[in-house]
Amino acid sequence: MKTFLASVSAATGSLLLVSSCALMDGTRGKAAYFEAHVKPVFQANCLRCHQGPQAPARLDLSDRKSALASVSPRTGRPFIIPGDPDCSLIVAAVTRRGTHPRLMPRQELSLTEDEIGELSEWIEDGAYWPEGPSGKLQAVFNPENP
Ligand code: HEC
Repeated sequence: MKTFLASVSAATGSLLLVSSCALMDGTRGKAAYFEAHVKPVFQANCLRCHQGPQAPARLDLSDRKSALASVSPRTGRPFIIPGDPDCSLIVAAVTRRGTHPRLMPRQELSLTEDEIGELSEWIEDGAYWPEGPSGKLQAVFNPENP
């Protein structure tokens, strides 16, 4: 196996190197984006309620698998549809669009415009959410929303 791989990479040389670097940079960029703009927002504003099998509206944001598998019992649609922020109910909930009666996080509180924009962008860009420890979310105390 090793010899096979070695001869393949020798034959394709720089091409192989370039493409694997591009892929790694892309993943690293997405991981950094998630870490900086998505995880802290969920942890400070949503995890207190939206975690575990009893999570309200069955929206469990504690890890990638649960979050992407969460389906709205009201509409039968997933809350997060990678690539499609407009159809993702989680975005509708935080932007308070349309006639949706259920306002999140709470009626008198809102995410900032920046946070909402970043959340939409993250979904638009495929909703990258790492497996493993860095993708496990926990509620973090938020003095703005005690
Ligand atoms: C204080 C607890 C609490 C917090 C914090 C909270 N939620 Fe909720 N959320 C609920 C409850 C309870 C429901 C069930 C629906 C209802 O009765 O409003 C719900 C429902 C929802 C729904 C489903 C609405 C629908 O379409 O049926 C979404 C999406 C949602 N929350 C997203 C979020 C997001 C994103 C955050 C963080 C920005 C958040 N929630 C923070 C308690 C909370």
